[in-house]
Amino acid sequence: MIKKKLIKNARKVDQFLIKFLKKQQLSLLVKPMKYGVISGGKKIRSTIIFDVGKIFNINEKKLINICAAVECIHSYSLIHDDLPCMDNDNIRRGKPATHIKFGEASAVLAGSSLLTLAFEIIADQKYLLSFKAKSEIIKSLATCSGHTGIAGGQELDLKFENKKKRINQIVDMQKKKTGKLFNFCLYAVGVVAKKNTKEKLFLGNLGEEIGLLFQLADDFLDYRGSKKVLGKPVKKDHKKGKSTLLNLMGEKKAYLFANNLKRKILRKLEKHGKSAKELISTIEFILERKF
Ligand code: IPE
Ligand code: IPE
Ligand code: MG
Ligand code: MG
Ligand code: MG
Repeated sequence: MIKKKLIKNARKVDQFLIKFLKKQQLSLLVKPMKYGVISGGKKIRSTIIFDVGKIFNINEKKLINICAAVECIHSYSLIHDDLPCMDNDNIRRGKPATHIKFGEASAVLAGSSLLTLAFEIIADQKYLLSFKAKSEIIKSLATCSGHTGIAGGQELDLKFENKKKRINQIVDMQKKKTGKLFNFCLYAVGVVAKKNTKEKLFLGNLGEEIGLLFQLADDFLDYRGSKKVLGKPVKKDHKKGKSTLLNLMGEKKAYLFANNLKRKILRKLEKHGKSAKELISTIEFILERKF
């Protein structure tokens, strides 16, 4: 069920990105950019955006630009994450990583270009949102991606290697490197749904917790998952000395922590009743997933 939903949503976002890039001037970077962002990856962030859209009865057409922008930022972060100066991984989504296929310089530049493409996609004239809504979305996307978000979290992730860190420090790092983009996903739907500030902040915070849960599951998969199913190397976090809750407190306690977090997230969705059905099933998938 969830697999079908993911595939369907991934196709929609891929098609949007192909069309968007087609309208642009061709450049040498389009190939490595497409290689990094299209036809690969679960596009789970897009699915979450559509799921939250269902809670507020928002048409998918109003959300597709947000999905595409998020996937560009996410794929940029993975291209850079795999570089030798960062996690130094060679396989991503079952294929050679972008820097293996195109070289490091092209991977860095294609990654940066995906980061800026995300903002072009939101600012696009054809995207029929008010200027006010667009600028609020752009601002949130910028703070969730830059030094207070993904990039800042990635810096901490690398600085924490082979260091003894406390639970709170690890949670803070993971909320930044992974949680913030999920924060953006829910916050942006709140903007489109014209929610008030308090509700938008509630949504953003909830997104961040979903993102943390997603990263915890990613860490479990590094330990227990299959390289073939995941399409990326496994059993590397321990070797690299990554500071994860799993490495700090062991499998049992880390899983308990994740399960409590999941329950907390689901409690926060109770007020939406049946309209949150899709989002709930995606959250269940996040912790149980094998890929
Ligand atoms: C992997 O993200 C990196 C993390 C932030 C945990 P995904 O598991 O969403 O990667 P793809 O897009 O499906 O390949
Ligand atoms: C990546 O975390 C988080 C990003 C923001 C890119 P990981 O380094 O654990 O992701 P994988 O396991 O390589 O996909
Ligand atoms: Mg990493
Ligand atoms: Mg990595
Ligand atoms: Mg990982």
